[in-house]
Amino acid sequence: MAYPPLVNPPAPRELLYEGKAKQVFATDDPRQVVVRFKDDATAFNAEKRGTVAGKGEVNNAVTALLYGELEDFGVPTHFLELLGPRDQLVERVRIVPVEVIVRNRTAGTFAKRYGVEEGLPLDPNVIEFCLKSDALQDPPMNAATAVALGHATEEELEELFDLAASVNDYLVARFAVAGLDLVDFKLEFGVDADGRMVLADEISPDTCRLWDAETGEKLDKDRFRRDLGGVEEAYQEVRRRLEATVGADLDLPDFDADDHDHEHHHEESADA
Ligand code: TMP
Ligand code: ASP
Repeated sequence: MAYPPLVNPPAPRELLYEGKAKQVFATDDPRQVVVRFKDDATAFNAEKRGTVAGKGEVNNAVTALLYGELEDFGVPTHFLELLGPRDQLVERVRIVPVEVIVRNRTAGTFAKRYGVEEGLPLDPNVIEFCLKSDALQDPPMNAATAVALGHATEEELEELFDLAASVNDYLVARFAVAGLDLVDFKLEFGVDADGRMVLADEISPDTCRLWDAETGEKLDKDRFRRDLGGVEEAYQEVRRRLEATVGADLDLPDFDADDHDHEHHHEESADA
C-alpha cells in the first residue's frame, strides 16, 4: 500500500502509553496521537507471550482499511490517517474501560463457559460487556454492574451496544466478500474532545476470530493462542484478502423501520 505524502506529517513525540500490542505517542496537536502497532503478541491476559513477524504492519493496515470503511458506513471512529507501515494518526480519546464482544458463533471463552462446541451459529448474535482489566482477566460484566461501578453511564452502554451492532452488520458482510467467516470480535470505544463516542483501538486478526468460509481454517490469533503454526501467514492472508476486495458489493442486511439506530448513524455522518 502506498502512503500519500502529507503536507505536514505529524511526528510522534513522547511515548504516552505502551500496551501489549501498541504504543501511543503524543504529537504537537494535543487532540491527536500516533498509534504504533508492535509485533508483540500476548494471549490469555498476557500469560502467554511471543512475537509474530509482520503482525504490526498487518494490524495497522487492516485497522486503517476497516475504520475508513466503517466511517463511510456511518460509524464514527478515532482513525484519522495512515502515517506509515506501523503508524496511524488517531484522535486522542478517553477510553471507556468496557470491552464490547460480539459473537456470531460459539468459540473461545463463550464455548467453554457454557459447555458447548465451537462454531455453532448464534441467533440472535450475542453482545457482551467485559471490564477492561488484565489484572482481573477482563471479567464479564452486565450493564447494571458497569453503571453501578461507574465504568459507563446507561446512555453510554446503549450507545456502545448500538454501535457494536452496526459494526457487526458491516463486518460480517465485509469479511464475507473476502471469504472469511467473522466468528467473534472485541471492540473498544473512547470519548473524544467533543464528547462524541467513537470506535477506538483496533480491528485485526488479533481481536477477531476469522475462519475461512470454505474450509473453516482459523486465520486469526487462535493460531498463536493454540500453537497451530502458520501464524504470520494467516495474518498476511487476511490482509491480502481484504485489500483484494476493496470496493466489492456487500450483502448488507436490510434495515427495517425499527432500526432507528442504523439510520441515525447514517444521518449523523451525512450531516457531518
Ligand atoms: P474470548 O472468546 O476469549 O472471550 O474472545 C472473544 C473475542 O474477543 C475473540 O475474537 C478475541 C477477542 N478478544 C480480544 O481481542 N481481547 C481480549 O482481551 C478478549 C478477552 C477477547
Ligand atoms: N488480548 C488478551 C491478552 O493479551 C486476550 C487474548 O487475546 O487472548 O491476553
